[in-house]
Amino acid sequence: MSRKIIVLDTTLRDGEQVPGAKLNVQQKVEFAQQLKRLQVDIIEAGFPASSAGDFQAVQEIARSVGDTVSITALARAVKGDIDAVYESIKLAQNPLIHIVLGTSDIHVEKKFSRSKDAVMEMGVEAVKYAKTLLPNVQYSTEDASRSEFEYLWKTIEAVIKAGATMINVPDTVGYAVPDEFGEMIRKLNERMKNLNPDVILSVHCHNDLGLATANTLSAIKNGADKVEVTINGLGERAGNTSLEEVIMALKVRENSFHCHTNIKSTELLRTSRLLTYLTGLDVQVNKAITGDNAFAHSSGIHQDGLLKDKQVYEIMSPEEVGAESMELILTARSGRHAFKNAVEKLGFDTSDAAEFEVLFDKFLTLADSKKEVYDHDVFYLVTNHRTLDV
Ligand code: KIV
Ligand code: ZN
Repeated sequence: MSRKIIVLDTTLRDGEQVPGAKLNVQQKVEFAQQLKRLQVDIIEAGFPASSAGDFQAVQEIARSVGDTVSITALARAVKGDIDAVYESIKLAQNPLIHIVLGTSDIHVEKKFSRSKDAVMEMGVEAVKYAKTLLPNVQYSTEDASRSEFEYLWKTIEAVIKAGATMINVPDTVGYAVPDEFGEMIRKLNERMKNLNPDVILSVHCHNDLGLATANTLSAIKNGADKVEVTINGLGERAGNTSLEEVIMALKVRENSFHCHTNIKSTELLRTSRLLTYLTGLDVQVNKAITGDNAFAHSSGIHQDGLLKDKQVYEIMSPEEVGAESMELILTARSGRHAFKNAVEKLGFDTSDAAEFEVLFDKFLTLADSKKEVYDHDVFYLVTNHRTLDV
């Protein structure tokens, strides 16, 4: 049976921390409305204790899209932060308080001058306090992948006993590798199922080694029921796990994962483009799913195969992610088949085989002098040839 994976989008919190990505309240609300169209389950709208502007944005998002989408916001394990989260999200139908506190030795020693037990107690007290405000509380064990496993588990056990309803396991600095991360999640999942099977196990990965998507998928295979992701992989340093990559991996490889999400994949490209438009941060051209070249084919061998049957070189259709159609880029490497397709698409007849050979020769000469040949070049080439011939 297919397992439902809960999708939390943190573009407006972790993504927005990126230099240059600052959005105003109106832009954040516009983006949250698009996340609602995309059908994410939870929107992490911000970090309300950080500034009055962030508080206002979270509040506006809770008010305007919190009727069908669950809204959360981040708090450190202190009363003031938790109050700010509660006050900003309380108008949403299904609000969730998100508390974060480090569990690795380096976080405990360098960030808090307290013992490990005292830090754990801080987390427990924070969860107990949050539970007096709302029933749903997520606890994130920051830097989990560099934490000593038994201390990590002791913390998780204690905060679940204090009332946490979701446990989020972050690979905060993108240190994890898929098999190790998957194994950690498998062990935590087994213990959590024994302790309280209703508590949801979540993961949150960063991309410092380019492994965020792989680690997230490995966690899903090993029992994680929720993922924290961002559009275009926007996030601290090298970014977070990209929502679009995880969604399409689960969809295209359904036979391997046996999992599904609520995401409307045909809204993926539109969401990615909106984020680029709002932040001014471009997506790399070869980025999976949402890069400009993700569905563009330029080699002659590939173009020829695709024109025979799309499945030869396509594992998903561009339409599935909301793109118009695959794109065949004409270059000096394109073959007769792709050139003929381009000429006919412009409405020209190609039945005169001898004429077509002359046109193809002219196309190759042009393509050698240009990097890419566009529709208007093909149009000019054919009309010019035919006019001169008359
Ligand atoms: O990367 C991280 O650890 C975080 C937490 C707040 C979940 O962003
Ligand atoms: Zn993060």
